[in-house]
Amino acid sequence: AQTHKILVLPGDGIGPEVMAEAIKVLKAFETPQRKFELRQELIGGCSIDATGKSVTEEVKQAALDSDAVLFAAVGGPKWDNARRGLDGPEGGLLQLRKAMDIYANLRPCSADSPSPSIAKEFSPFREEIIEGVDFVVVRENCGGAYFGRKVEEPTYAMDEWGYSEAEIQRVTRLSAEIALRHNPPWPVISLDKANVLASSRLWRRVVEKTMVTEYPQVKLVHQLADSASLIMATNPRALNGVILADNTFGDMLSDQAGSIVGTLGVLPSASLNGLPGDQTLETRPYGLYEPTHGSAPDIAGRNIANPVAMILCVALMFRYSLNMEAEAQRLEDAVRNVLDSGIRTPDLRGKAGTQEVGDAIVAAL
Ligand code: NAD
Ligand code: IPM
Ligand code: MN
Repeated sequence: AQTHKILVLPGDGIGPEVMAEAIKVLKAFETPQRKFELRQELIGGCSIDATGKSVTEEVKQAALDSDAVLFAAVGGPKWDNARRGLDGPEGGLLQLRKAMDIYANLRPCSADSPSPSIAKEFSPFREEIIEGVDFVVVRENCGGAYFGRKVEEPTYAMDEWGYSEAEIQRVTRLSAEIALRHNPPWPVISLDKANVLASSRLWRRVVEKTMVTEYPQVKLVHQLADSASLIMATNPRALNGVILADNTFGDMLSDQAGSIVGTLGVLPSASLNGLPGDQTLETRPYGLYEPTHGSAPDIAGRNIANPVAMILCVALMFRYSLNMEAEAQRLEDAVRNVLDSGIRTPDLRGKAGTQEVGDAIVAAL
């Protein structure tokens, strides 16, 4: 039998509630030939309370020793006025991204996912605007303003926003490889502010050179990041393809993508340091799977959080870390059927609780 080692990090707020449902669903995929060995650890605010650190060295090592990491959410008002940056709850996630070197954060968004019925009902945009929208934001995840030097003084603060050629090259290559997995290849739409930022001018130059020399068969478009945001709201189909963005622009654009489907509660993401099957990697790529939403302290502890984004993270984990594409699709189909049958949490104007949605998805499987 094959055993997959999964590190489970529920975190804070609604994190433990949605994670419990994801684990329920994961276990439904166990067979005599395939077992999941789960190890649960602390991260974020709960880790600060227990250990004084937002993530311990031991948990970072556990991530490196596992086949994949499931992460729910961190943060909350309890820690908002305490230490921030890498020491605050959110810093636990940032430190883990860095330790795993998971430099590409994939955030898929389509008007048909998790079900066309969701976008139709919840998107603030007219149906003809969002019909056929299908893109993935590939967000650079280990550099830029998040990880540069910082100065924090009472009357001055600074975040260094820098990129090296190598950092831009590797996320460009991964974006192009994703584009090539579609037939015909998707275009790569690279976002920057080359009209203003020095780091963006390097970004544009390196993306251009990497694509032209290594991926001439993939169409490349450079788009200023601010106008990309407008396009996403007026003609989002024009961004269909791989949207390649630096850490900050990718963070913002991927939240804005939530407006296509009308809610963040159903959007999963995958943070990777390579794609499966990539011959240039010495080991299998690391993967950390997390919803795009946060710890939602306003609704925590009431069994009303939507577990769908977290559960769809399990599907992405099957796809990108565990070589289980058929199972990924089966899970995505089950989620669609349950949502279409009206079993939904209150954020989707349903009456079901978090646990009922998880149970219904297991039953649909
Ligand atoms: P949030 O995503 O937690 O919540 C925004 C709104 O969406 C809230 O009204 C919340 O109730 C709702 N919501 C979010 N997820 C939901 C779900 N699964 N089901 C139903 N409703 C849901 O963002 P925020 O309020 O800006 O941040 C709250 C905390 O989460 C902050 O401490 C922030 O730093 C943290 N955060 C963590 C992550 C992460 O861990 N990856 C991501 C974003 C924000
Ligand atoms: C996200 C979140 C994180 C980020 C925070 C919680 C560190 O907003 O995953 O998008 O800014 O990357
Ligand atoms: Mn974000």
